[in-house]
Amino acid sequence: MKKSILFVGAEVMPFAATGGLGDVLGSLPTALAAKGVDVRVVMPLYSAVGAKYRAEMKKEAEFDVYLAWRRQYCGVYSLVKDKVTYYFIDNEYYFAREALYGQYDDGERYAYFCSAVLEMLPQIGFFPDILHAHDWQAALSVIYLRQKYSYDARYAAIRRVFTIHNIEYQGKYDFFILGDVFALSEADRAVVEYDGCINLMKGAIECAEAVTTVSPRYADEIMSPEYSHGLCHILRRYADKVSGILNGIDYAYYNPWTDPVLVKHYSPKRRGGKDACRSALRADLSLEDDKNTPIISLITRLASHKGLDIVAEAIRGILDETGAQLVVLGKGEAKYEEFFKNLEAERPDKVRALITYDRDLSRRIYAATDIFMMPSKSEPCGLSQMIASRYGAIPVVRETGGLADSILPYWVDEEGEIHGNGFTFAGYTAGELYERTVAAAALWKDTEKRKTFVEKIMTVDFSWAASADKYIELYANLL
Ligand code: GLC
Repeated sequence: MKKSILFVGAEVMPFAATGGLGDVLGSLPTALAAKGVDVRVVMPLYSAVGAKYRAEMKKEAEFDVYLAWRRQYCGVYSLVKDKVTYYFIDNEYYFAREALYGQYDDGERYAYFCSAVLEMLPQIGFFPDILHAHDWQAALSVIYLRQKYSYDARYAAIRRVFTIHNIEYQGKYDFFILGDVFALSEADRAVVEYDGCINLMKGAIECAEAVTTVSPRYADEIMSPEYSHGLCHILRRYADKVSGILNGIDYAYYNPWTDPVLVKHYSPKRRGGKDACRSALRADLSLEDDKNTPIISLITRLASHKGLDIVAEAIRGILDETGAQLVVLGKGEAKYEEFFKNLEAERPDKVRALITYDRDLSRRIYAATDIFMMPSKSEPCGLSQMIASRYGAIPVVRETGGLADSILPYWVDEEGEIHGNGFTFAGYTAGELYERTVAAAALWKDTEKRKTFVEKIMTVDFSWAASADKYIELYANLL
């Protein structure tokens, strides 16, 4: 029997996305489909979904969704891309908004979305073998499936998987909206209750038959109070259904040999194009183009768990010691945006702070980068260190979550053989970040060592090939 999987999530590349979740939902399904799995994905039809994709969509169904006392229109559109069928839930009241998230009624918007997903199944005549929901916005699809739909054999047969991409965002609400917004009854209260409030992620952990997270190390870390943002108690109770599978990146998209935004292409063996990319970025940013000066970059959401406090503490010393230039790309918390803008004003010949989210620009920066800094305090998986590696930028990372699972420390054995694929440190301290970044810059300045090492890091396999098999195994075990 051919297995069928329905992914449920709030953002999917290339249709609408703000971060790593979108990358994964845009690439894992393709990898599974390439291995013969029938994978379909469902997401909201935000206004951000471009006209180009809308033009390709076909209308599948139209019906009403009832959410407590509400009755709301639902349109279902679909398109097929690389053997994956994508469904889009259309409701302009909920999804024609400025931004994907951060709206006052996010709880209601995603409750509607999750109800619509389950109501869609008989309408489109497709009941998957597995419903695989991602992060808190999709948590209610798993909760509803078990709590509200299991009387119907067609739904009861669907196995339930929930993936935590970031445990920090749990979907917490006051109990007074249990019935009114989430359309759950008193009988469901215990399922979603945690620490005196409604916690949707907790409810999904309870209702899913398998809970995964995006790296093995993070699966261990979230069992402890330090990393779990309060959820370790429930995770420990269900420890035997929790596992970690490392993400991959989209190898067709993140490829310096074919990437259309680069001025020149390059590969592990033919890396000349990387110098051209570095020079081109410097010309664009009006930075001096000296071939003995490395570019250090930070490409990240400017959020505190990305380790920006220790960057702020260490960066002046790093720039003084290495003579490097620094390019920062990202937006987020005001205090970090200001910090980097001030640093640029203070060192206009060395620092550029690009306070924006721009995917094309990010790949031009990866290609120009020599040393990529990612000292996260916590990191469920992290994709940037993998992209950086593929683009030949030496990663300097803190040993946490997926960073620890993907980047192994550089060292040279007695025979002169090089081990590892980056520079890593364990403690969350500015001192360690400083020391490892300076060490990475020293290696980079030694052109012989640079040649071998950069070639090595570019060939580490971060594609989905291996991890897709792990998901297939997980699905097979559930069926
Ligand atoms: C979240 C996590 C990040 C992970 C991504 C995809 O954005 O913070 O570490 O790589 O999800 O799973």
